[in-house]
Amino acid sequence: MAMTNGRSHRRRFICFAPIYESFISIPLLVGGEQPLVLSTDPKTFLPNPAELRAALEANDDICCVIVNSPNNPTGAIYPKELLAELANVIKDFPEVWALSDEVYRTVRFVPGRHASLRQFLPDQTVSVSGMSKEVSGTGLRLGFCAGPLNLIALIRSIQSNSSSCVNLPTQRAYEMLIRHDIENNMELRAGVVSQLQSRQKRLLAAFEAALERHPAVREAMFAHVAQGAFYWFPNIQGILDACASSKVPSASSVRAFHLSIGGGDLCSRELR
Ligand SMILES: Cc1ncc(COP(=O)(O)O)c(C=O)c1O
Repeated sequence: MAMTNGRSHRRRFICFAPIYESFISIPLLVGGEQPLVLSTDPKTFLPNPAELRAALEANDDICCVIVNSPNNPTGAIYPKELLAELANVIKDFPEVWALSDEVYRTVRFVPGRHASLRQFLPDQTVSVSGMSKEVSGTGLRLGFCAGPLNLIALIRSIQSNSSSCVNLPTQRAYEMLIRHDIENNMELRAGVVSQLQSRQKRLLAAFEAALERHPAVREAMFAHVAQGAFYWFPNIQGILDACASSKVPSASSVRAFHLSIGGGDLCSRELR
């Protein structure tokens, strides 16, 4: 909102790397500045609240902090305590909004309930979600947001004058699906998660097998396994280092796999 307002001096987002690329391209598309991208812990991919505070103190042109958990592309899930800490930082900057992208909120492979930044910072947070991930409805383009009334009114005004609305059949279908799922305990969304989880297991097993003769590389790659969302962000530094020092393995001694997930099948073939 701040970015579409040409008079605002706050026209820049803060987001955390590794990053979903639209967090860079959408702000630029609507006239904002290049976002400020803060790094995260290289092992856990979690942001550091003290670094966020320092960035907000040093830059008075920030309009919004984007938090995305479960995360694309790392699969990290931010613990509740971390969300509370981030909220405490942002609370001290009342002109700054928070955008909590929770599009993967139902896709988690670890025990526990989804937590939202909005629980800890209701007056400054807009949370967004939708059907594309939770019911594999990508392409249907139906999402929703929740936030403070004044901001929702602005969002409504921009949306109703740009796209009007998502087509009615899609809206009705999503509403029915969620209603049936909850009222009749059909576990439709849980079914999507268990499908994804079994694909994740097969993917990891294929990598384990491919790296069985390179335990150090395997250990680094498996240091962080996705806790949610659709992604795995393995550390391949071990492989790059080994290639650079040509300790690696000629092509013939490495079993490299081309892995792809599509149509519900995991395909694996050895590369020559
Ligand atoms: C973090 C994140 N937010 C938003 C979206 C967009 O979702 P939709 O398909 O509902 O536009 C994606 C899609 O990949 C995503 O990964």
